[in-house]
Amino acid sequence: MTARILEGKVFANQIKETVKNDIVALKEEFGVTPGLAVIIVGENPASRVYVANKHRSCGDVGMYSEVIEMPADSTKEQLLNKIAELNQAENIHGILVQLPLPKHMSADEAEILNFIDPDKDVDGFHPVNVGKLSIGQEHLVPCTPLGCIKMLELAGIDIAGKHAVIIGRSNIVGKPMFNLLLSRNATVTVCHSWTKDLASVTKEADLLVVAIGKPNFVTAEMIKPGAVVIDVGINRIAPKKLVGDVDFEQVKEVAGAITPVPGGVGLLTIAMLMHNTVKAARIQLKK
Ligand code: GUN
Repeated sequence: MTARILEGKVFANQIKETVKNDIVALKEEFGVTPGLAVIIVGENPASRVYVANKHRSCGDVGMYSEVIEMPADSTKEQLLNKIAELNQAENIHGILVQLPLPKHMSADEAEILNFIDPDKDVDGFHPVNVGKLSIGQEHLVPCTPLGCIKMLELAGIDIAGKHAVIIGRSNIVGKPMFNLLLSRNATVTVCHSWTKDLASVTKEADLLVVAIGKPNFVTAEMIKPGAVVIDVGINRIAPKKLVGDVDFEQVKEVAGAITPVPGGVGLLTIAMLMHNTVKAARIQLKK
């Protein structure tokens, strides 16, 4: 029997519908339209596509958005000044600095992200938000792992009591995913490049989350029959061919449910950015 295919579009549309209604409610209650500012420094073509998609999605749900384009040779001080201005701006509730930053600034990435007001940090990358997540006080949570959790909830897939295995320990996906699953009462194992006999661990997973950036890395022998498999990887293997970290064609024959790439959890990331911006607006209105 082949697996249930968890189509990102279905869940992303449900989330966007909820966000749209929340925005109408915020306007009625407070006369405020949530606003998102996205800063992009330099000319990275993939980043430009992502930023354009974010801007379009804001329009779709009735949110205000600004894209701030800064030249590749901008200084750290110029970027920090821009963030300081947005931290104070009343019409901006969410601030996102698109990564990666140009090479000359990458060593300053932590300092730059830490400069964003934690209540406007819709990426959930600020140490205050990371810390809150780790002690079970979810404030603003990184969009991609939060999207995976929302998808499981909307799909009616229980987390509590499951053995969840995560492959990958990044700050953007693996680590926040660990905290989100743990606080929802899963038993969580995190695997990474040093893990010995990876397949023996993944074979025990009721829920497997993969975020390592290696095309088709997870194969059918690594899967427990009936497991739920979430593929966070997006790998371009040819000019027009995207694949995930999971070998979808093989694994769908063993898994109970699986997300495709493209068309899987990637679509939820932007929906969760909209969700986080509305949440940030509510946080600020309560201050
Ligand atoms: N670049 C790729 N993914 C992300 C993300 O989630 N947030 C930001 N700010 N930049 C990214």
